[in-house]
Amino acid sequence: MITTVRRLHPRDMDRAKEIDRLSFTASEQYDDSMYASMISDDRFEAFGGINERHQLLGYILLERYPAYRIRTIAVDPAHRSQGVAEALVRFIIERAPGPVDLLVDPKHTDAIRLYERLGFVAGAPDPGAPGKTRMTIAKPPA
Ligand SMILES: CC(C)(COP(=O)(O)OP(=O)(O)OC[C@H]1O[C@@H](n2cnc3c(N)ncnc32)[C@H](O)[C@@H]1OP(=O)(O)O)[C@@H](O)C(=O)NCCC(=O)NCCS
Repeated sequence: MITTVRRLHPRDMDRAKEIDRLSFTASEQYDDSMYASMISDDRFEAFGGINERHQLLGYILLERYPAYRIRTIAVDPAHRSQGVAEALVRFIIERAPGPVDLLVDPKHTDAIRLYERLGFVAGAPDPGAPGKTRMTIAKPPA
């Protein structure tokens, strides 16, 4: 159960990497340079779900340009099915000035269920992303 969503810091990167190791296959893992970019490159924003013991339970990576795109979401398997991912996605939807989209591998059925529950709609196949499903949530400008 998380109590806070906050921006990730360099000191969180080892834990983010561990969560990815537990969540994705070897070929899906980011290399170290991506973890550095997540927190230093203006294109990205990364936020973590934190529990009352200040532990990082899951994180979400957002790419800000050209639109808001969720690049990754991962929750420590020991802390799943407690609403951590839903809280992280809701946080991003509220923060985004416009539509939010993402590309998801159809094999990530847990994630697709989560996005559909929150109102994302699957689009037509994306020629730029073969084998992935593009899902979008429209959000009117504030
Ligand atoms: C997809 C993923 C991020 C979901 O994380 P999560 O924190 O378990 O997600 P939530 O807890 O918000 O929702 C998961 C389920 O728990 C249920 N749930 C949420 N809070 C609950 C609670 N307090 N009690 C019981 N069930 C609860 C949700 O209804 C949901 O049910 P569903 O499986 O029937 O859809 C996680 O499974 C994961 O890291 N997967 C591997 C990485 C991945 O595939 N990432 C996506 C591609 S980038």
